[in-house]
Amino acid sequence: MNKYLLLAALLATLGACGKSGSDASSNGATPEASAGKAIDFVTTQDGAPLKIDVVLFDTPSAKEFLATGKNPYIGNEEAIAKGKKVFQMYSCVACHGGHAEGAVAPGLIGPNFKYAKNATNKGMFETIWHGTNGGMGAKGIGLMDPTDPKNGITPDEALKVIAWIRSQGTGVTGNE
Ligand code: HEC
Repeated sequence: MNKYLLLAALLATLGACGKSGSDASSNGATPEASAGKAIDFVTTQDGAPLKIDVVLFDTPSAKEFLATGKNPYIGNEEAIAKGKKVFQMYSCVACHGGHAEGAVAPGLIGPNFKYAKNATNKGMFETIWHGTNGGMGAKGIGLMDPTDPKNGITPDEALKVIAWIRSQGTGVTGNE
């Protein structure tokens, strides 16, 4: 519980979001990317607060995601093509299949997910960033390889890979 208190204090200090219980509705906020608003990330493992350095959100799209929880790359062909490369480069393909249809690991195209939160882009981002307890390793930069803080997927890359995954799917955009 101390972790929650610490996070609440941090958020209050930053002026980001002092209200509690706004988790579910924070996705529907107005797109005020420049106002310094930030969504609250939580781990897929147990819903504990997940702190990600805002400095890592270093592209306009990543900043917009940080403010709104929406993935601006959904449906963007260029971003989707890059996301496909990320999916291959980080071996997602080996476990999840060439079309994210599932292989030794579950399919990612929905509409049903093992972790229901992965139907949203915020949820899938958190899963990719911090992993699960069931065999999905954390891929976020600094988490993937504890011996190399520069190794891993950046927020911008994660959003692109999610855009590619959604493009393989059944109409779930994750931004609903
Ligand atoms: C070594 C194999 C492996 C690799 C590599 C891997 N995953 Fe996974 N992934 C898994 C397993 C196993 C699960 C199921 C985890 C569980 O049940 O907790 C999973 C679960 C997921 C889920 C949640 C699915 C659901 O139904 O809720 C997402 C999203 C995901 N992976 C995305 C990715 C992405 C994107 C990459 C590449 C950046 C990746 N994974 C790389 C094995 C892998």
